[in-house]
Amino acid sequence: MPQKISLTRYLVEQQRQDGHIPSQLRLLLEVVARACKSISQAVNKGALGGVLGTAGSENVQGEVQKKLDIIANEVLIEANEWGGHLAAMASEEMDNIYVVPNRYPQGEYLLLFDPLDGSSNIDVNVSIGTIFSVLKKPEGCAAVEEKDFLQAGSKQVAAGYCVYGPQTTLVLTVGDGVAMFTLDREQGSFVLTDENVQIPADTQEFAINMSNMRHWDEPVKRYIDECLQGKDGPRGKDFNMRWIASMVADVHRILTRGGVFMYPWDKREPEKAGKLRLMYEANPMSWLVEQAGGAATNGRQRILDLQPSKLHERVSVVLGSRNEVERVTDYHSGL
Ligand code: AHG
Ligand code: MN
Ligand code: MN
Repeated sequence: MPQKISLTRYLVEQQRQDGHIPSQLRLLLEVVARACKSISQAVNKGALGGVLGTAGSENVQGEVQKKLDIIANEVLIEANEWGGHLAAMASEEMDNIYVVPNRYPQGEYLLLFDPLDGSSNIDVNVSIGTIFSVLKKPEGCAAVEEKDFLQAGSKQVAAGYCVYGPQTTLVLTVGDGVAMFTLDREQGSFVLTDENVQIPADTQEFAINMSNMRHWDEPVKRYIDECLQGKDGPRGKDFNMRWIASMVADVHRILTRGGVFMYPWDKREPEKAGKLRLMYEANPMSWLVEQAGGAATNGRQRILDLQPSKLHERVSVVLGSRNEVERVTDYHSGL
């Protein structure tokens, strides 16, 4: 029987082989994985653990917080603040950055996360997840401030997510392809179950919230309309649709079998660039998708090249199978 490779062993071997995981980053990723295990336990207990329902508060973006949004946020902070690998953290659920308290040593890295993605699915027992992104603290920066987090996605040194679905799966990139690890609950460890993940360049499956169709911009309407025409339209083939309403689960499907995911700008709140958050959702997911041979744009530019101007910035997102993302992006430039 082939030997099982744990996340720990995978990271140690990555560190040995090409040295692009320094030991502090390795520790950080182990700690994030441990926190995800703990969140997975809470998610699994559901009503038995009293973790369902709303918390009665709002986050900085005016969204109602669920109990699990807050629990997951706390688990990630508590797990990460004392190990000496981090300088500061930022979260979708916190107004401001969280600098590692003075009583602990400060490390080289900055951690950003969407502690619980897909909040609307928590209470209905549908897949949800945690998304994370790791940046280096800028050189010569003594006291970390919000501006130190404002780095383009291309500067990420690690990114990933953990999806809490029928299986709990951790998906990771450190810039050397995408690897997937499934949680073995009996052993209590993540086991490597897929490596060198590749998204097919073509697809016949799209993911978008169709209820917003009347609010979309013309290029998005055109693209979806052509998909809907199927065999009888200009694409000459039928398309299937999926929308889980947890980005983490939609992206997981795309990494597994291809597809295109879109949460475009729309006219409901025209002053907002989109719904999804650049630094907690779009950047880590875009890097994973690119590392698997796919593409990610905001309809016009590569997401990883965008220079963030604020922590909680939003962005329009088109990602997944390369040829479809290119087509949507071409439509935006009038091609
Ligand atoms: P979050 O739960 O972190 O706020 O993110 C939810 C996001 C994303 O996961 C999903 O793709 C999208 O919101 C769903 O939005 P709609 O409810 O508008 O479809
Ligand atoms: Mn989210
Ligand atoms: Mn969230």
